[in-house]
Amino acid sequence: MPAKITVNENGPLKNEGDFRILDAAGNAWNLEGKPAVFICRCGQTAKAPFCDGTHKSCGFVGPSKAV
Ligand code: FES
Repeated sequence: MPAKITVNENGPLKNEGDFRILDAAGNAWNLEGKPAVFICRCGQTAKAPFCDGTHKSCGFVGPSKAV
């Protein structure tokens, strides 16, 4: 399945399909067995680059509609 990224309303980027996430050195996170991965957009997560749900309590507001 090709990669699909969904911008969630006031929340993270939901990533599904065939993709890899690499750090700046080119090392890949092990995402085996995860049907979806959520990438933080609010900048407040303690598990960067992944969402830990903090966007719900920090009042993050982010655009999510395609224009
Ligand atoms: S988007 Fe969820 S913690 Fe940042």
